[in-house]
Amino acid sequence: MRSTEAYVRALPKAELHLHIEGTLEPELAFRLAQKHGVALPYDSVAQLRAAYDFTDLQSFLTLYYALADVLQDADDFYELALSYLQRAHEQGVVHAEIFFDPQTHTARGVAFGAVVEGLSRALAEAERRFGMTYRLIACILRHLSAAEAMDTLHEVLEYREIIGAVGLDSSEVGHPPSKFAEVFEHARRKGLLTVAHAGEEGPPDYIYEALDLLAVERIDHGVRCEEDPALMQRLVREQVALTVCPLSNVKLRVFDDIEQHNLKRLLEAGLRVTVNSDDPAYFGGYLLENYLAVERALGLTRPQLATLARNSIEGSFLDADAKRRWIEAIDACASEAASG
Ligand code: ADE
Ligand code: ZN
Repeated sequence: MRSTEAYVRALPKAELHLHIEGTLEPELAFRLAQKHGVALPYDSVAQLRAAYDFTDLQSFLTLYYALADVLQDADDFYELALSYLQRAHEQGVVHAEIFFDPQTHTARGVAFGAVVEGLSRALAEAERRFGMTYRLIACILRHLSAAEAMDTLHEVLEYREIIGAVGLDSSEVGHPPSKFAEVFEHARRKGLLTVAHAGEEGPPDYIYEALDLLAVERIDHGVRCEEDPALMQRLVREQVALTVCPLSNVKLRVFDDIEQHNLKRLLEAGLRVTVNSDDPAYFGGYLLENYLAVERALGLTRPQLATLARNSIEGSFLDADAKRRWIEAIDACASEAASG
């Protein structure tokens, strides 16, 4: 019987919650800082890594936005994205739906077009070289105003052929989904799909708002749904995908440790749970490491690991035909494991 690692690697998987800025490894950050003459307040890669000791979401975001300063031209975004895609491909990711935060870059004078050009060049290359498919999701920073979000949406709409959806991220508590109801309604009217971070640090009410006011296709994180049994029932009934990020949740202290994570309970309650890496350069692992962390800590079975992979395909924005083909491939992988 092959190892669990080989089994998880072989399962075709979609990654649905991945911030491209969160794949900035310290080595690349230093190289780009040197390229652009940006001074980083750290002397070495080791010193920077040592700063990845977060107490909550905000303590992470502060560092994450500061380091994003090194991303300045289209080539930087191309290199960033291609490194991630190469790694994801090696881990059995066949489809990636990638977040980026336009406002983090445009606020520093980086052109929206440069960001999109670099990212789409990498995505097209990954499709050609690895056969990977993708969607690009532009996230609105919720700590900024609804008016700024609307301005950003207008820029997003200029790249309508490349950007398939809008999301909502950044500091959650105090910035409920309702703040952006109008922006998301406009996005949907223009044919964009919608997703939102909700129930990471924020209360179950934010998950209701994301569903009812933003009409999201899925919930990013959503782990606090467990505090509300009626919400749990609804998520099961409507089979709303939750893009759960286990290593992120531990690093940002949503759970004290991985053994306390509620992923297995949510899965066994019938929710469409998926596993994702969020900001892997900061949280200690990419997609494979996230699967293996919950498998070990929570004792997931191989059929449960296959269910997580199936959920990632079902919860994706792939068309019905592509979904059917990947589900068949996952079934084949799972039954081979069961018989061998
Ligand atoms: N931006 C990047 N990672 C995030 C997270 N986990 N929550 C909210 N915003 C984010
Ligand atoms: Zn996230």
